[in-house]
Amino acid sequence: MTHRPMPEFPAGFRWGVSTSAYQIEGAATADGRGASIWDTFAHSPGRIADGSTGDEACDHYHRYAEDVALLAGLGVSAYRFSIAWPRVQPSGRGPANQAGLDFYDRLVDELLGHGVDPVATLFHWDLPQALEDTGGWLDRDIAARFAEYADLVAARLGDRMKLWITLNEPFIHMSLGHGMGVHAPGRMLLFDAFPVAHHQLLGHGLAVSALRARGSTPVAIANNYSPVRLAGETDADRAAGAAYDALHNRLFTDPLLGLGYPEELGLDQALIRDGDLDVIAAPIDVLGVNYYNPTGIRAAEEGSPLPFEIAPLDDYPRTAFDWPVVPDGLRDLLRQLRDRYGDALPPIQVTESGCAYDDGPDADGRVDDPDRIAYLDGHLRAVREAIDAGVHVTGYFVWSLLDNWEWAEGFTKRFGLVHVDFATQRRTPKSSYAWFRDQVVRP
Ligand code: BGC
Ligand code: BGC
Repeated sequence: MTHRPMPEFPAGFRWGVSTSAYQIEGAATADGRGASIWDTFAHSPGRIADGSTGDEACDHYHRYAEDVALLAGLGVSAYRFSIAWPRVQPSGRGPANQAGLDFYDRLVDELLGHGVDPVATLFHWDLPQALEDTGGWLDRDIAARFAEYADLVAARLGDRMKLWITLNEPFIHMSLGHGMGVHAPGRMLLFDAFPVAHHQLLGHGLAVSALRARGSTPVAIANNYSPVRLAGETDADRAAGAAYDALHNRLFTDPLLGLGYPEELGLDQALIRDGDLDVIAAPIDVLGVNYYNPTGIRAAEEGSPLPFEIAPLDDYPRTAFDWPVVPDGLRDLLRQLRDRYGDALPPIQVTESGCAYDDGPDADGRVDDPDRIAYLDGHLRAVREAIDAGVHVTGYFVWSLLDNWEWAEGFTKRFGLVHVDFATQRRTPKSSYAWFRDQVVRP
């Protein structure tokens, strides 16, 4: 582990941590909450590694005051959480369920009372099941439903929100949820999942207008990015790299920033109606960047249904998820975004960065996680290098505050600065929590 002092960050830099509703809240039926696609998926046999569900998760719904105290102890200036659409509209449409909004109202006030800026994601994958039943994100009508929901939330919380994030990682929701069936709703459509991309982006654009109409800004979206590392040097490898880059890194960013869809993806033009691209390109105030790792790519074998092949990235340490630890990938990505989009690029906040390790308490009850400290140290230095190279980065959020329910991996992957014993709900700050507070948040 390094003992070099962390370089200083610009004054006003936003330090935060991120979470999402289904991963921490529990209280799956409290106060009128409807079912989401993740309830359905988690309760279907064989979908989740350890057979668990988010029914209870971290019980944050009841323990939010304790968790806000942990945020205050950490000294962060911002907390990114997500709002569960099925708490607000249990059947995905109609008037707001005020009892569901009450929870977020209490949470926002608790945060402000501790000097922590609330940053809310409107959609972190937990679609009301009733909307899935009528086609979900494959149905164009959902974009209008999402904007209506955004308006209901803004009406209640807009006076106190410091940053809105419309969607979390539309690429992952499309690819893992609708392309490969690994996440809810479990569809395996491969490239026929593209309508999910267009309808998410359209929903985003309409939601941006709805928030602005309420006078509630600033507004962002949080995209997942994975810079390409070529695992070969032939023209075919380079073409494969460009194809993967268009899919993972450009599909959800080119149209947002006014460039339209990458041509090489060959999206069905019938999906795109007059005016859609203008709606999608509504100006945003911040681009949220979620980064975990680069992707190794080489040319596909002949006859493959994909225009690329994923190649393992050897030669790097790995997390418990078997993801390679490549801090330089974050620096390269941030510079690439700046080079690619130039003046069209709004200020960036890194809205997720973090790692899973098999952390647990030692005989004295302490949870030491030197690997996480090394991970965060490396990634923060990478952000600092990107800032030095002229990229406008104004914030960094660690994924995550708490060990939580990690989607298809259930409780088997621990991403927290705070350890959670899921049998007792006992929270124990790990050594990375103290490190983040001392080295970074309060230098
Ligand atoms: C990707 C990560 C992504 C994750 C979503 C992984 O395959 O490498 O970047 O965040 O899936 O759970
Ligand atoms: C998601 C988080 C998830 C994290 C680790 C991101 O793709 O936004 O919900 O827990 O990656 O997989």
